[in-house]
Amino acid sequence: MELREVIGRRRSIRFVRPYKMVEPEKIQMMFEAARIASHWGNVQSLRAVAVFKDSAPKEVTDSLGAMVVGWQIQVAPVVIVWYVDGAAVDDQSNRLRELTEVGALGFGGIELRKKALEEQLIPFFSSLLEGMKAPGLNELDCGQGIAQATLMAYEQGLGTCCLGTPHGDKIKDAMKLPEQARVLLLQTVGYPAEHWEAGGQRPRQPFGDLFKMNTFDNPFPRDEGVVAELTADGMFTTPAPLPDREAELDFLQGALGIEPPGLL
Ligand SMILES: Cc1cc2nc3c(=O)[nH]c(=O)nc-3n(C[C@H](O)[C@H](O)[C@H](O)COP(=O)(O)O)c2cc1C
Repeated sequence: MELREVIGRRRSIRFVRPYKMVEPEKIQMMFEAARIASHWGNVQSLRAVAVFKDSAPKEVTDSLGAMVVGWQIQVAPVVIVWYVDGAAVDDQSNRLRELTEVGALGFGGIELRKKALEEQLIPFFSSLLEGMKAPGLNELDCGQGIAQATLMAYEQGLGTCCLGTPHGDKIKDAMKLPEQARVLLLQTVGYPAEHWEAGGQRPRQPFGDLFKMNTFDNPFPRDEGVVAELTADGMFTTPAPLPDREAELDFLQGALGIEPPGLL
């Protein structure tokens, strides 16, 4: 699948096949994609534990819970617990040294770069260190990693759903995560039980309301030729709701034994 089609097929898939275990190699592919995502200062604060329902300790699977529409946690064969480890920030000087060594920062020759790094960049970042552990850029970069992992999942024919959780501390205890860890979100992973369209592409706010050119009062011009190209390439698919969605939901809820309504 080309990237545009993968992006087009990505949508929250809540109905997955509970009996079909996801191969660890496919979860590894997701983690490999997350690992090479960009991160400020190359700090790499994103961490994850993949919980395989067929082998995880009961206290770990029991700890998993969401805030809204959490039933898919019971159905999914794998749940990834994504968390941020602020301790990664403590090692930022070494990450910057690595970047400098490999020429990623792009200025001067190697000796000039090393001098500027030790005398300017490292002292500058060190002064910000504690503040950089607070929610902010770290989470943004974790999101980039999770997004890359998510696209990798769909490229492999998997479906996922991200779920916020109020049970971070409970999950942390059950998994014995490090003290400074902060659980970001749960991501259910499995082979889709629903059609890949899952009722159609979900609604989004108008393009011009979201994106501007130069100033806030100037909506970014949306070229219809670009829209047509991305539609032809599979990035835009039929908008939800597809005509048979309600029947599909009835069927899936019955097959998976999901009790209505249970939104919370
Ligand atoms: C960080 C994050 C947290 C989310 N938390 C929940 C959640 O707790 N419960 C839920 O049902 N969906 C959750 N979602 C899914 C969104 O509601 C979903 O993105 C939205 O329905 C748009 O549909 P799509 O992902 O299919 O395009 C979450 C998504 C993200 C990215």
